[in-house]
Amino acid sequence: MGLDAHSINSISATTRICAVYGHPVKHSASPTMHNAAMESLGLDWRYVAYDVLPENLREAIAGAAAMKFVGLNLTVPHKLLAMEIVNEFDDSARTWGAVNTVLFEGEIGGGEWKPMRDCNPEEVQAVRTRGFNTDADAITRSIQEDLGISLAGKTVLLLGAGGAGRTAALKLASDGVKQLHLVNRTMSKAEAVANEIRARFPNVAIKLGYPEGTVDLVVNGTSAGLKADDPLPFDTQLFSLKKAAAAYDMIYRPAQTRFLQEAERSGCKFANGLGMLLYQGAKALEIWSGKNPPIEIMRRALQQQIYGRS
Ligand code: ATR
Repeated sequence: MGLDAHSINSISATTRICAVYGHPVKHSASPTMHNAAMESLGLDWRYVAYDVLPENLREAIAGAAAMKFVGLNLTVPHKLLAMEIVNEFDDSARTWGAVNTVLFEGEIGGGEWKPMRDCNPEEVQAVRTRGFNTDADAITRSIQEDLGISLAGKTVLLLGAGGAGRTAALKLASDGVKQLHLVNRTMSKAEAVANEIRARFPNVAIKLGYPEGTVDLVVNGTSAGLKADDPLPFDTQLFSLKKAAAAYDMIYRPAQTRFLQEAERSGCKFANGLGMLLYQGAKALEIWSGKNPPIEIMRRALQQQIYGRS
């Protein structure tokens, strides 16, 4: 689903801009999702994607501020780097140590700062940036909405301890899982994440390695599965998805990874990571616009763009 010729022609001197910066970025589905949402909310806004090298991130953010953009999303490899660049931090960015959403704020005079959506660009005298993280909440919101699982008190096996795996582990712990089993190909990274959780969330029982008994949920937070010939993200000699009630794959392309095929064969309830993409985007749009995001329109736009069906 894209903008039709009429909407593109309606871009004018008052059209406002949001964007995603990444490298690479050309496969991003965020423009499709956000433009559908902006149109449905009746906003004269557009959302575009820019390939930005990490060494140019500071300049690219300053450029957007100078041009009075409304907001930005940041994706790989910019989320950690942005912590050094944005001026102000929302609690979410401080808690998760990464920024995926930037809100531009304008000063009209008198020291009062307002979100750019509420500013007349011609009156803005200074611009500052506020960083948010909408990724972490999106993980558990998707697990809740797509699998119907509330995590408090649950036993979870998490596969992966890279950037995505670490955030998922900390978020699961912050949502009150009772027991968290951590597995990663490189065990030392799982150990480092386990130590961080022990320090920040001492009520969560952390175990390294596969569980012996059953689990409520297995989460794939590794990148194994993005390519068709990738191995399964767990060792089938040491664990079976028959021991799990549900499986969640943070990967959404392809729609059903080998991990999720195995989950289906084992009788698990399962969901892919499309919901994470959707909910992080919905929250970002809410931050920029102050409006309720049209979730179902955004979901359909993503499904159409990524899977060719809605
Ligand atoms: P991301 O930002 O997607 O988390 P990352 O930080 O590079 O990317 O982390 C990739 C994760 O996928 C890591 O947990 C990695 O395991 P290692 O820490 O051992 O590298 C995991 N991963 C990647 N390919 C894998 C494979 N073929 N089998 C198992 N795990 C894999």
